[in-house]
Amino acid sequence: MVRPLVFAHRGASHYAPENTFASYKMAVDMNADGIEIDVHKSKDGHLIVCHDEKVDRTTNGTGYIKDLNLKEIKSLDAGSWFDKKFAKENIPTLNEVLKFVKRENILLNIELKNGPIFYPNIEEDIVELIKYYGLESYVIISSFNHYSLLKIKKIEPKIKTGILYIAGMVSPWKYAKSIGADAIHPLFITINEQVVKECLFNKVMVNPFTVNNEDEIILMKMLNVTSIITDRPDIGIKVVSSI
Ligand code: G3P
Ligand code: CA
Repeated sequence: MVRPLVFAHRGASHYAPENTFASYKMAVDMNADGIEIDVHKSKDGHLIVCHDEKVDRTTNGTGYIKDLNLKEIKSLDAGSWFDKKFAKENIPTLNEVLKFVKRENILLNIELKNGPIFYPNIEEDIVELIKYYGLESYVIISSFNHYSLLKIKKIEPKIKTGILYIAGMVSPWKYAKSIGADAIHPLFITINEQVVKECLFNKVMVNPFTVNNEDEIILMKMLNVTSIITDRPDIGIKVVSSI
């Protein structure tokens, strides 16, 4: 039986500041199969990797990413809020993360953030950069904005997409198929055996988030999900690799 893949959510974010190279490197050291990141767009059009629309929670700066330029964003300390020892960490760009992914030969789940702040042409920009690095088969793009996923598929059908959702859905595979998506990315508590079976039978991958507790990871493995998205890739790898 194929084991579920393990994606480190914002990197190994239980152990290092989320969405920094410290957390991505830790995920690689823990043998994660891939990393999950969140992407926004700066005032001067750069693709910026950060969870929130604003930099306030995870840096020493303030303001919306859409109102800051790359130089301002790069000057921020993105590690001290987590622990002083990470003071040198800064906010990565998608360009930097793609180079890292290529070098480390890992998978990448890009969560495209597009709402409640809307970024014009963010779909085109992301696809262009993935293609520049030839990483089409290494990336899956997920989003709560399903119109963005529809657009991604129209621009480049080769890039995989996954619908993010947080409430229970009947036959999510049908909905995923209706927008050309390759996967569902559900909040893990919303799925059950039937959902997973129907998805897999219809060739729709099942990648639940955010599964951190060992017992929950065991449950997801028993359901035969395709991947798990976790803050604790070390626990994830340990569980999915056990017989
Ligand atoms: O991709 C799963 C998960 O990252 C979605 O929620 O808020 O952690 O970005 P959030
Ligand atoms: Ca995310």
